[in-house]
Amino acid sequence: MSLLFEPSTIGRLTLPNRFVRSATFEGLATPEGAVTPALTQRMVELALGQVGLIITGHTMVSLEGRAGPCQMAAHSDAFLPGLTAMTQAVHKAQGRIALQLAHAGYMANTELSGLPALGASDFTPEGGQPARAATVQDLARLVQNFAMAAQRAKTAGFDAVQVHAAHGYLLSQFLSPYFNKRQDQYGGPLENRARLLLEVVRAIRQAVGPDYPLLVKLNSEDFIEPGLVPAEAIQVAALLEQESVDAVELSGGCKLAGPGRMPARQGRIKSPEDEGYYRQAARMYQQEVGLPLILVGGLRSLEVAEALVRDGVADFISLCRPLIREPGLIKRWREGDRRPSACLSDNLCYGPAFDGRGVFCVAESLEKDQSSR
Ligand SMILES: Cc1cc2nc3c(=O)[nH]c(=O)nc-3n(C[C@H](O)[C@H](O)[C@H](O)COP(=O)(O)O)c2cc1C
Ligand code: SF4
Repeated sequence: MSLLFEPSTIGRLTLPNRFVRSATFEGLATPEGAVTPALTQRMVELALGQVGLIITGHTMVSLEGRAGPCQMAAHSDAFLPGLTAMTQAVHKAQGRIALQLAHAGYMANTELSGLPALGASDFTPEGGQPARAATVQDLARLVQNFAMAAQRAKTAGFDAVQVHAAHGYLLSQFLSPYFNKRQDQYGGPLENRARLLLEVVRAIRQAVGPDYPLLVKLNSEDFIEPGLVPAEAIQVAALLEQESVDAVELSGGCKLAGPGRMPARQGRIKSPEDEGYYRQAARMYQQEVGLPLILVGGLRSLEVAEALVRDGVADFISLCRPLIREPGLIKRWREGDRRPSACLSDNLCYGPAFDGRGVFCVAESLEKDQSSR
């Protein structure tokens, strides 16, 4: 049996294997952000598909941090019943689930939130509303928003929380010299740009106690100039190690970087070498940081995943689009059918996540339509 299917741990959390479902916005919550039975059902399918740890889609910690329609929310106790129903259903299916906590920063959807967007610095995204630089008072509130949302996750029965500090969202904006032009204690040198993230993880740790698994998703590189670069990302991970974080998921890219360098890169993966976009940064990480590394980005085959873990490049293998295409992929691999994921990385699945239908593999539907003609 592959070492990917051996039990493993993240902090106090024992997982049945080394496969993680990377956070995936489904667009299946209510307009306000409550969990729906359809969304819970997606999580159950992943649990039945034997994913070791499911990470939910990004869940807003405050209203002005809302990114998209029908996005999950954890900014009020009103969301506890739905969140609890989700964890109970996943646990019944023998799964493990973490809640991803996020604030979109300047990428917030102000039409949906009805509130002005906040960013590290004043910034107007192309075709979007201007975001204003968060004040120190705003930041103190935001830190508490993250901590209270984490407390709710624990109360609702989630096995862990993951702080979203990647992909050009608020915490990633603070880390990035491209977005963060601040002159105060939150801008300038890396230790200042990392201050907000460190305050967030400290506040969460205080809220949830010493044993509760706490993960962070980080960009290894922003792919914009002058963005966060791998050497700095590794330093941030080393700082997180000192803050009792239990694991880091290494990702990369942001919307401004364009389709080929978005977190979900568009473009067909043609060979094993194309898989694992951030494996170079992961190697650097493993030399400097002791925390378990969850690697995401373009992983499509069991062989590559095995080699990355065997060679010590990654400790956990994280997948997003392959599990949209085939929620039962891990079970299939475990049962001996080792064909790679059929995901085409064409990103057609974004459409239904944003138009109210809920994320699904559009490419597969089109293929089925064509073959039935
Ligand atoms: C439809 C869709 C929704 C996504 N939603 C999130 C999200 O909520 N949070 C997040 O951190 N990343 C999100 N991502 C990025 C993925 O987690 C992942 O980092 C990226 O797709 C690369 O992995 P893959 O090649 O396995 O798809 C999303 C990607 C897609 C395609
Ligand atoms: S639509 Fe399907 S094949 Fe295309 S990227 Fe999304 S999951 Fe992969």
